[in-house]
Amino acid sequence: MADLAWIGAGETAFVCRHGHEAPLVEELHRLGAAPRPTPLPGLVAASSAAADLDPVWALQTLPRVRVLRGASVRALAEAAAEGLSERLDATEASWDWHWLLPATLRGNPRPPMQRRAGLVQAGAADWLQRRRRRLARRRVDGSPVQPAEYLAQHLLLDAETMLQSVAPCRRLAVGSSWPSPLPAGHAAVPDDPAAPASSYRKLEEGFALLGRWPAAGELAVDLGASPGGWTRVLRRYGARVIAVDRAPLAADLEADADVDARIGDAFRFEPDAPLDWLVSDIVAYPERIIELLGSLGTLAPERGVVQMKFRGDVDWAAIDTGLQTAAGQGYAARARHVFNDKNEVTIALRRAGKEAIR
Ligand SMILES: C[S@@+](CC[C@H](N)C(=O)[O-])C[C@H]1O[C@@H](n2cnc3c(N)ncnc32)[C@H](O)[C@@H]1O
Repeated sequence: MADLAWIGAGETAFVCRHGHEAPLVEELHRLGAAPRPTPLPGLVAASSAAADLDPVWALQTLPRVRVLRGASVRALAEAAAEGLSERLDATEASWDWHWLLPATLRGNPRPPMQRRAGLVQAGAADWLQRRRRRLARRRVDGSPVQPAEYLAQHLLLDAETMLQSVAPCRRLAVGSSWPSPLPAGHAAVPDDPAAPASSYRKLEEGFALLGRWPAAGELAVDLGASPGGWTRVLRRYGARVIAVDRAPLAADLEADADVDARIGDAFRFEPDAPLDWLVSDIVAYPERIIELLGSLGTLAPERGVVQMKFRGDVDWAAIDTGLQTAAGQGYAARARHVFNDKNEVTIALRRAGKEAIR
């Protein structure tokens, strides 16, 4: 049975990209949440005071966990269902559930113990169906566009031990909700072996963070576009793209009639038509990205995805200044270290005052 010295009842666990636990621990220290690394890559434990925190470096939060133990699948399933019923019977809320495994946190699509987790889930569903039918009926499949009101998360640590977190989901000004409606906070990113750069994954995650994807015919500017991974993603959604870089795009994108490829300084870009999207993967110092965020009011895109990259240590002050600068330009903004980010963060932007994400 798992030795759980690293987390206690009522404490909060955060999921981050494995290998990036140190910046999350540092951020939680700054927020006064007494963080502790755990034996699981991609999981950091923190005090009960962390339950309402939304750290930039966290992909998901499991607030106020309980430790459930059971010597059989059936015992674990009953413990999970009873925990759910205790927490949710008194509400009329919709709820969703996620079933996670240690390897899920590392992005493994076929994690060990998957079969056991499936059996526990089926057992819990059966228990609810038999004993709490009304509660069972309120379960929905939440999504970034339509998240559930509550999220129940289960992390099976070994055959007999599980963490359970049942928490209300807070609606956000940018994106959908926190806890995230995505299991472990991981967005599904379709593989594209023909993409000219693997960085396309970050943009897909940026859209999931925003809870909004480009629609056919929308106009996007892609700053720092070469060789074209992001432009290709935008084109796949049917957006028309102005691609700006000092270097050229891949030949097939250059030849695309719906791509206006411009060689030049991306920081000097001036739109000649209203922009639906501004996306930027420019490699530049954070100060330059803050300047770019400071020109949002002039560029006036409806929404955006902007990377801020660091050399060496994370520049927490630059992230804060970037978010405040965007707010000063009339944009709701949220920064996140998404799964495919390296030493950088993704900033999702939405022009404020508009109706929330469609
Ligand atoms: C990480 S790459 C972008 C990759 C791109 N998103 C993709 O998926 O193919 C960063 C790009 O920023 C460009 N860049 C850096 N500073 C620039 C500037 N001032 N103006 C235009 N492009 C710039 C570089 O030429 C480089 O192509």
